[in-house]
Amino acid sequence: MRIAMIGSGYVGLVSGACFAQFGHDVVCVDKEAAKIERLRKGEIPIYEPGLDRLVSDNARSGRLTFSTHLPDAVGNADAVFIAVGTPTRRGDGHADLSYVYAAAAEIAQAITGYTVIVTKSTVPVGTGREVARIIRESRPAAEFDVASNPEFLREGAAIEDFMKPDRVVIGVESQRARDVMAAVYRPLNLIQTPMVFTNIETAEVTKYAGNAFLATKITFINEIADLCEKVGADVHDVARGIGLDGRIGRKFLHPGPGFGGSCFPKDTLALAYTAREANAPQTIVEQVIEVNNGRKKRMARKVIDFCGGSVAGLTIGVLGLTFKPNTDDMRDAPSLDIVPALQAAGARIVAFDPEGMEEAGRLLKDVTFTKTAYEAATGADVLVVITEWHEFRGLDPRRIKDLMRQARIVDLRNIFDPGEMRALGFTYEGVGRPAPRS
Ligand code: UDX
Repeated sequence: MRIAMIGSGYVGLVSGACFAQFGHDVVCVDKEAAKIERLRKGEIPIYEPGLDRLVSDNARSGRLTFSTHLPDAVGNADAVFIAVGTPTRRGDGHADLSYVYAAAAEIAQAITGYTVIVTKSTVPVGTGREVARIIRESRPAAEFDVASNPEFLREGAAIEDFMKPDRVVIGVESQRARDVMAAVYRPLNLIQTPMVFTNIETAEVTKYAGNAFLATKITFINEIADLCEKVGADVHDVARGIGLDGRIGRKFLHPGPGFGGSCFPKDTLALAYTAREANAPQTIVEQVIEVNNGRKKRMARKVIDFCGGSVAGLTIGVLGLTFKPNTDDMRDAPSLDIVPALQAAGARIVAFDPEGMEEAGRLLKDVTFTKTAYEAATGADVLVVITEWHEFRGLDPRRIKDLMRQARIVDLRNIFDPGEMRALGFTYEGVGRPAPRS
């Protein structure tokens, strides 16, 4: 198969490299010449474990190439994937589809022979049909079908998720398009991946429903964590106790400072908007958005209360700034609410993150960044864990205690064992775990 990937951002690059690994000929296209130039040199603009190797291996074999010239890539392709950005539109929270539609118009001019145009970007229901309309209008004679193929990649585990997905969802409306899409994903038959073929609208709704459900699950356990704190229960045991019920499942029941990232906040907002427009409001999802936003804001209050009602004049060490580990992504990260609120309350922030400090430096003001986690703890009156980077779990708590001015930890990801920390002399607070009985 010959594949054109329009948009070489996170989704486009990961999908393009993985399709090349499947054995297809892939051209990743982007308007940004500097980005394409860097990719040609093997420089990967994002941090994703394993991606640099996958890109360089497939580039060397000639299966993966990069171009700024959309017409050549599209003209030769059996399938064209649209993987351009769909940011949240300012003002109304709806997804901004202008890049998707602009790509569709350009693709229309470049198609030669039967081509399947696939939306890979997360797009609201109705977008696939609109893409088809744009192409038909600008090239009435073009031979094409549209398809919707949402991606379910997690940052930090994207390659694994792509190569070994739980399922692939494909919205198509002709046998011919279905055959092309089946051929694109044929290598996954070897590992018996379920292929869910649906109509286009169903595939579009499936993506949003999936993400909104996961966001709901996290928000649910976060509120249960609040209850646990008040009544002396342990949310981890509750999560295990309910998660072992196969109808509920154990994943996505880890409490924390609220979900962030490039998908959940944006997709829940877009779903709520689409649903209101369709006169079928998703009140649960609307609540999830509100509860999660409130939670991110409240986390600073939790730290302040823990410090006895004031952090004025205190030095706060922060471990982790990205929205989750194994990424340099700061989008909608809880740290963006927590750090400024602590600064506004008079604290000085010293922070460390293994990958996110460059971006954090652009988004946060007056933060002292350190080279190691231990340095961030040095002289701190309280240490706040915001992101559960694996390396933080391996820190030596005794050494941390010696470095800190006051041995106090607020662990918003529950990476430390409360009993152990208290035994070592820390004043310790996690999320949803009981304080020791006095
Ligand atoms: C998510 C979806 O998992 C993926 O299928 C979709 O394609 C894109 O959105 P991602 O945003 O990369 O992926 O990260 P994910 O691991 O799902 O975490 C999202 C947020 O939820 C993070 O802020 C994370 O810290 C939080 N989270 C996740 C929890 O607080 N608790 C959990 O149990 C799981």
